[in-house]
Amino acid sequence: MACLFRRAIAEQVSQVLGLPAEKLIPCIHAIPVHRKQDSPDFQLYVNSLSVDNFDGASHNENAQKLASKLAANSIISEIGTGRGSVTFKINRELLTETILKKIYQDGSLYGMNSELLSNTPKGLTLVEYSSPNIAKKFHVGHLRSTIIGNFIANLKEAVGCKVIRMNYLGDWGLQFGLVGAGFSKYGSDEKLRANPLQHLFEVYVKANAAANKDEDMKSSAQDFMQRLENGHPQALSLWTQFRDLSIEEYTKVYKRLGVQFDEYSGESFYNKKAQDVLKLLKEKGILKTTGDGKGVVDLSEQGDVSTFSTVMRSDGTSLYITRDIAAALDRMEKSNFNEMIYVTDKSQQTHFEHLFKILEILGKVGNCQHVKFGRVQGMQTRKGDVIFLEDVLDEARSRMLQNMANSETSKTTEDPADTAEKIGIAALIVQDLKGPLLSDYHSVIFTLRQLLRYDEVIHKTLKDLQPRYLVSFLMGLGHLVNVAHHSLHVKGSSPDVAHARLLFFNSVRVVLASGMRLLGITPVDKM
Ligand code: ARG
Repeated sequence: MACLFRRAIAEQVSQVLGLPAEKLIPCIHAIPVHRKQDSPDFQLYVNSLSVDNFDGASHNENAQKLASKLAANSIISEIGTGRGSVTFKINRELLTETILKKIYQDGSLYGMNSELLSNTPKGLTLVEYSSPNIAKKFHVGHLRSTIIGNFIANLKEAVGCKVIRMNYLGDWGLQFGLVGAGFSKYGSDEKLRANPLQHLFEVYVKANAAANKDEDMKSSAQDFMQRLENGHPQALSLWTQFRDLSIEEYTKVYKRLGVQFDEYSGESFYNKKAQDVLKLLKEKGILKTTGDGKGVVDLSEQGDVSTFSTVMRSDGTSLYITRDIAAALDRMEKSNFNEMIYVTDKSQQTHFEHLFKILEILGKVGNCQHVKFGRVQGMQTRKGDVIFLEDVLDEARSRMLQNMANSETSKTTEDPADTAEKIGIAALIVQDLKGPLLSDYHSVIFTLRQLLRYDEVIHKTLKDLQPRYLVSFLMGLGHLVNVAHHSLHVKGSSPDVAHARLLFFNSVRVVLASGMRLLGITPVDKM
């Protein structure tokens, strides 16, 4: 596959330039498929080579000079030049045979064990994603976090990292006071059991409205929170019930999305530990108290508190960020991860910048990264505003069922609802992860050349953690194979031809499926 070809090119160039082949391999890129029938397969930009062999002439001249010293052989059938680059065309027969054989051998591992990826760190990655707030809306940001985080975790795992998938629930704070206090008035055990997320949200909305009007509700919410903080058994058992039932329901919905977690953590775990963090900050002289009694950490370069992060309320209680500091320290200690990735919308950018800065001040730089995404306008179903993830998935499924019913080419499948569910969710995921699309393209040679780029796409995606490269690659591949599929019949062809074509389509199927699984999509066999 691609590696074999890159190596063959690198070895030739290495002899001419006297640079080690290993150094050259990453500079050799598969050329993306485009309209021009006869374009070469690989290129090497001379400006990516740090050599003195070139005597200050232009990149084009240097490329020509280098090209003139290289010769075609049994692997490289043609050598040419492009803008500032030397281009290489691979022997067609060898290209076809090598790619198909490699995919046949590697199956869904194709591309993942490439030489290109040999230097990517393979340690333990903790990915924290989804992280909704119990008793509040599961908004589009949570859906995006779920889809993107799942993708990142899949990708890391596919290239050999060990991965911890973590859901950090918003399971603490005033909304619990309201739900806890409001439950005796507006709650029903039966409804709670039947539909916990929806019911808790209803109770929250009612209690919240009441608290805005009358002081009684407000103070009983505060009371409930106080009891919870003090570990009062009755309050605690109600809270535990809310949390457990919510997780149970979330788990069901995540399953529909093909998403799972190794661990359900949450802010509640770090309520007490946040107090230890405050103590630690105090001991280290990092906690400053403001005139109104709040505790802050100075984040300014100059030490003039021109930027700061508030970590303690004036009544001594912790905040969202304090719990995040506690959680990060705890995770570092417990799992000893090599990297931690938080996935949220970009409104939390400053929050995470502050968090990482405070960790750094504490001397705990743990290779943490915030992957952020844009916020989306409210999502709507036919019933109205989206509140529950389940509604989004139901909507995707029902629209797809409708499409299937309206389409003459849909085959009858054993379980249309199941097919509709998978395709509906696939549409949802692709809609979310897509970027610039590859424009149209044709025939087997094009498709094979697209397959040739798979490891590079994985490499690039891994570097930036931007799913769109992979989505665009898969869309391109899908498009190419679709075109090929119209002209290359298997049925009715001679056994030899039919066999070759079948092998070709099967290879594409394997790569498409493995890429889709990375994105969190379950491929369907029939539709
Ligand atoms: N529950 C939060 C929210 O809905 C997201 C949590 C993100 N993760 C974190 N460690 N702060 O906004």
